[in-house]
Amino acid sequence: MTTQTRKIWLVEKAGSFNNFKQEHEELPPPPPKHVRIKVKFVGLNYADIFLVLGLYSAVPEGKLIPGLEYSGIVESIGDGISEDWLGKRVYGVSRFCSYATYINVPVTYVKKTPDNWTDQQACAYPVQTLTVYYALEELGRLKPNQNVLVHSAAGGCGLAALSILSKKSAKVVGTVGTSSKLDLLNQKYGENPKFTFILREPAKDFEDRAKQALLKIDQGGLFDIVLDSVMGDWFWPNYNLLKKEGKLVVYGSASFTPTGNLHPISDIIHWIKLGWKYIWRPKIDPMQLMQDNKTVTGFNLIHLYESEERMNKLFEQLRTLELDPPSKINEFEFDQAVEALTYFKSGKSVGKIVLRVQH
Ligand SMILES: NC(=O)c1ccc[n+]([C@@H]2O[C@H](COP(=O)([O-])OP(=O)(O)OC[C@H]3O[C@@H](n4cnc5c(N)ncnc54)[C@H](OP(=O)(O)O)[C@@H]3O)[C@@H](O)[C@H]2O)c1
Repeated sequence: MTTQTRKIWLVEKAGSFNNFKQEHEELPPPPPKHVRIKVKFVGLNYADIFLVLGLYSAVPEGKLIPGLEYSGIVESIGDGISEDWLGKRVYGVSRFCSYATYINVPVTYVKKTPDNWTDQQACAYPVQTLTVYYALEELGRLKPNQNVLVHSAAGGCGLAALSILSKKSAKVVGTVGTSSKLDLLNQKYGENPKFTFILREPAKDFEDRAKQALLKIDQGGLFDIVLDSVMGDWFWPNYNLLKKEGKLVVYGSASFTPTGNLHPISDIIHWIKLGWKYIWRPKIDPMQLMQDNKTVTGFNLIHLYESEERMNKLFEQLRTLELDPPSKINEFEFDQAVEALTYFKSGKSVGKIVLRVQH
């Protein structure tokens, strides 16, 4: 086994896309119980944006290669790994480190790519699908025919949620930020009488509009589960839209996405705007939860990474759902990571964004 020269994207000092740089380095042979993967695709996650901009708390100190998922080919193995892995097409999740042309990862969460899936589809699958599955099943306790509100329904997590919810016969109101995304979802799911979609803005009459939308597909008028990845001005409408015993699952805060690049001096105005939003972020009184008989819960999938058994159980449960592979995928070259993240941050993207690694 030899070392391997690789290209990486490195956050030298979080705070600005300007500090996000490409470097070359030597990757040592895979340690025991690890495999070395020749990466074909790297999956982008919203956490990567927050990480590069220094707004993500769940990261170790110091220089860091971001990236939570990948697909590729196993090209060498560490001690304790069966030779059967060599040459296999695989995908998986990593606790950071995926923005690289080669990676050494523990075999724990490396999965064999289904024969009928492309490497690009496999890369687009794990993080967002696990996230919404965990939100719906583990925290939301989803049951058949329940009413579910899904924000950013045309995003990576959003489309994964729709895919799961259609298998579970749920009645779904999905929100999006632009009318072009609305058209796209109506084209894809127009035939499904249990799905309907609305614009999220403006927040002030969102509650009424969401109720009206739900009335088209259900007589009850309120939701069993709300998947909230936006937060901010939509938090309280989301809460009010819950039935008694309903569950508001908070798993993202996209409305806190800074508009600028967050340079400490030249982008001071963006810092002020962000600080203002943060100070006025929604807060809830536990006494109110008891009185209203509602649940507000939240999570970060990264913490499950430590729990091999649970994470693999989720993978297995998802496998039995036989979901179609992700269908909306935007591809950028590996060298275009900054452009890809900038596009992602714009809020215009539909589905998943991946980086293609050319070897
Ligand atoms: N907790 C976890 O473990 C976990 C794991 C994965 C993802 N997440 C969260 O889940 C959410 C979705 O992730 P994703 O990777 O699938 O991303 P995504 O939904 O594909 O993209 C983010 C979307 O957020 C919406 N958005 C709302 N306000 C925005 C703003 N001010 N600026 C930019 N975009 C804004 C935009 O869609 P619309 O305007 O159409 O709504 C945008 O397309 C993110 O908040 C992410 O942080 C959490």
